[in-house]
Amino acid sequence: DKAGFKHFMAKEIAEQPVVLQGALSHYINAEATAVTMPDPEIDFAQVERMTMVACGTAFYACLVAKYWFEQIAGIPVEVDVASEFRYREPPVTKGTVALFISQSGETADTLAALRYMQGKADKIMSVVNVPESSIARESDMPLPILAGTEIGVASTKAFTCQLTTLAILALRAAQMRGRINDAELAEKLAALRSLPGLLNLALGIEDKTKSISRKLAEARDILFLGRGAMYPLALEGALKLKEISYIHAEAYASGELKHGPIALVDKHVPIIVMAPRDSLFDKTVSNMQEVMARGGKVLLITDQKGATEASTGVWETIIMPEVDPFLAPILYAVPAQLLAYHTAVAKGTDVDQPRNLAKSVTVE
Ligand code: F6R
Repeated sequence: DKAGFKHFMAKEIAEQPVVLQGALSHYINAEATAVTMPDPEIDFAQVERMTMVACGTAFYACLVAKYWFEQIAGIPVEVDVASEFRYREPPVTKGTVALFISQSGETADTLAALRYMQGKADKIMSVVNVPESSIARESDMPLPILAGTEIGVASTKAFTCQLTTLAILALRAAQMRGRINDAELAEKLAALRSLPGLLNLALGIEDKTKSISRKLAEARDILFLGRGAMYPLALEGALKLKEISYIHAEAYASGELKHGPIALVDKHVPIIVMAPRDSLFDKTVSNMQEVMARGGKVLLITDQKGATEASTGVWETIIMPEVDPFLAPILYAVPAQLLAYHTAVAKGTDVDQPRNLAKSVTVE
């Protein structure tokens, strides 16, 4: 049931404030002072490193989580795509926790990577949407993301719920390791609790994304740029767009641009820059200016402050609500999804059932 929406994808994008609220109340107490994880909990004070493995969009959730676990909890994190990890036979040292992310919980490569880690990692965690799935059942600690059934092949609400669950887990790990005190934890939990409201506001960019998408639909190639935890969001934006609109899109860490990809830039290539006004903003803006100096058409996705400082010369701007920089990756999933969705609609492709793709990849 599409509940009045044209596609499941549109419905699932719109559902995000509500499902995220459910995930938040599952993992955070009513006073927003403590995290509640399933018993028995993993003692993060003893964890020496984490290995995170997944495919596709879930892999990008791992990449965001790497920033969080390293910066907030001080745990070194290795991330790999499941199809590489499983055949790499990586050595596993004591004190390693393995974490697998999967919406379906049945992705063949991710499941095989999990089985490789059984008996090698101290503990196996998973972040899954389907609680009775193989990946959940074979983990020591499966964490449900509570996104509800996701039908559109392109993952949307599962991604934001994965990120939310991982952000909460990173905070719990930081607390166990004495890296944040109760007041700091409460402050971050309060920021998380403001996310459903912010997501609602962010969905207000839909008309703007629709008009921009009509122009994006004409492009042959599109580049996405981001720095820090926004780099995985750029990757996610490019994946969503290629999956459903069939436009060739690539993402780069902003700082990598001048090491090659800048050669692609001309007036026909839209460049989508995802940059909240955070501590890395000025650096991203200077990368953006390099692109504009070469005739590149920049779509800047930022907040009001960022737009005031840096919209001179840009082609289009999408203004996002202001958000704690820690949580920006969750909020900025919305423009990534809406741009892909409306570009695909403008092109007339089959949004919910893109060619050559299956919702759950249960073969290698
Ligand atoms: C992208 C997409 C895929 C999946 C990937 C992993 O929109 O849906 O890239 O994210 O196939 O699937 P799960 O999370 O079920 O393991």
